[in-house]
Amino acid sequence: MSLWSVLSSPAWGPGSVVLILVLLLRLSVQIWHKFYLWDLQHCSTDLTGKTAVVTGANSGIGKAVSQELARRGARVILACRSRERGQQALAEIQATSKSNRLLLGEVDLSSMASIRSFAQRLLQECPEIHLLVNNAAVSGFPTTLTPEGLDLTFATNYTGPFLLTNLLQGALQRAGSARVVNVSSFRQSHGYIDEDHLIGAGRPLTFNQNYDCSKLLLASFTGKLAQRLQGTGVTVNSVDPGVVYTKIMKHFSWSYRFLFWLLSFFFKDSKQGAVPVLYLSLAKELDGVSGKHFSSSCVITLPPEAAQDPHVAQSLWNTSVRLTNLDKVD
Ligand SMILES: NC(=O)c1ccc[n+]([C@@H]2O[C@H](COP(=O)([O-])OP(=O)(O)OC[C@H]3O[C@@H](n4cnc5c(N)ncnc54)[C@H](OP(=O)(O)O)[C@@H]3O)[C@@H](O)[C@H]2O)c1
Ligand SMILES: *[C@@H]1O[C@H](CO)[C@@H](O)[C@H](O)[C@H]1NC(C)=O
Ligand SMILES: *[C@@H]1O[C@H](CO)[C@@H](O)[C@H](O)[C@H]1NC(C)=O
Ligand SMILES: *[C@@H]1O[C@H](CO)[C@@H](O)[C@H](O)[C@H]1NC(C)=O
Repeated sequence: MSLWSVLSSPAWGPGSVVLILVLLLRLSVQIWHKFYLWDLQHCSTDLTGKTAVVTGANSGIGKAVSQELARRGARVILACRSRERGQQALAEIQATSKSNRLLLGEVDLSSMASIRSFAQRLLQECPEIHLLVNNAAVSGFPTTLTPEGLDLTFATNYTGPFLLTNLLQGALQRAGSARVVNVSSFRQSHGYIDEDHLIGAGRPLTFNQNYDCSKLLLASFTGKLAQRLQGTGVTVNSVDPGVVYTKIMKHFSWSYRFLFWLLSFFFKDSKQGAVPVLYLSLAKELDGVSGKHFSSSCVITLPPEAAQDPHVAQSLWNTSVRLTNLDKVD
């Protein structure tokens, strides 16, 4: 039987042609990811003796990042809100990275009280912190107030990391040379800055725009923090992981999740999504680079205009300090 007769057999309906095209497309996406992603294997950075804190480490990108940091010898604090999910991830990472330097830290980033008590315990255990990855985030919630009067999404994605980073600032500075990495999103360019959003007020937000806005605030914060930390040896940068198939859509309705699943065929997996975050965490050429935003292909990009305005950044900083009571001595 010739190839042609095989191909022209009636068994090959239009369905098979579509299937083959989809598989070819998928293959090219994989090859493309392979070439344009930073080459993790060729980075020799060793983290023995270093301490890293990763928030939202029990799932998706955070888990993949923690695993690689542990594999490179770092003591990794997996900052998770659920003890059960955290413990499960810890066991998994321990098994694959062969690391015995993993610690579980319980923290709910939407609660300032929880962050304060976590930071206090952490600072006792780890007086020096070399890497802080602000990765945890939620999406898919409507405006919901926390018991502390903050909007839940903004609290988790922005105010929480703001407070945590500030509380750990001393430990980061003590490390001599340290990095703060914020996991941002390409969605930030769809957001706008309205400080009242932090307390569940302000201009109304359309569906999931709160996500976009919180990521934009993070970008503004990055620039401001970098400026404040100039000369301390602590750098702070943010990065977009790209479109990654994780549990990030778990609070959406089933129809959205189904669509995400269908399209996930062309998305990065968690390991690939972790690469840009690891680039900011590990790459030697980024020593001393601070206040920059990186695209998912690890290239420095300008943050949205709103995040570049120094007056807006200062005002946002002031509001955040007030909301998190960082101005009160305790
Ligand atoms: N996936 C994408 O396509 C994409 C695109 C752009 C940016 N990102 C960013 O990538 C980061 C990681 O997301 P992912 O995609 O890996 O999603 P994920 O699998 O849902 O992971 C999110 C993590 O954050 C944790 N978290 C949520 N709320 C928390 C809270 N209040 N306190 C402590 N931890 C909390 C979650 O813990 P639980 O398991 O307990 O919920 C989970 O470990 C996020 O910053 C996200 O915005 C993702
Ligand atoms: C928080 O982050 C998640 C995931 O990245 C996003 O979906 C959500 O809209 C964000 N919330 C805010 C207020 O930015
Ligand atoms: C990282 O997030 C923190 C807390 O939201 C913020 O203060 C800081 O400026 C951000 N840094 C970058 C580089 O985005
Ligand atoms: C921020 O606070 C500082 C000190 O409290 C103040 O001098 C400054 O004017 C404030 N800036 C803005 C833009 O609110």
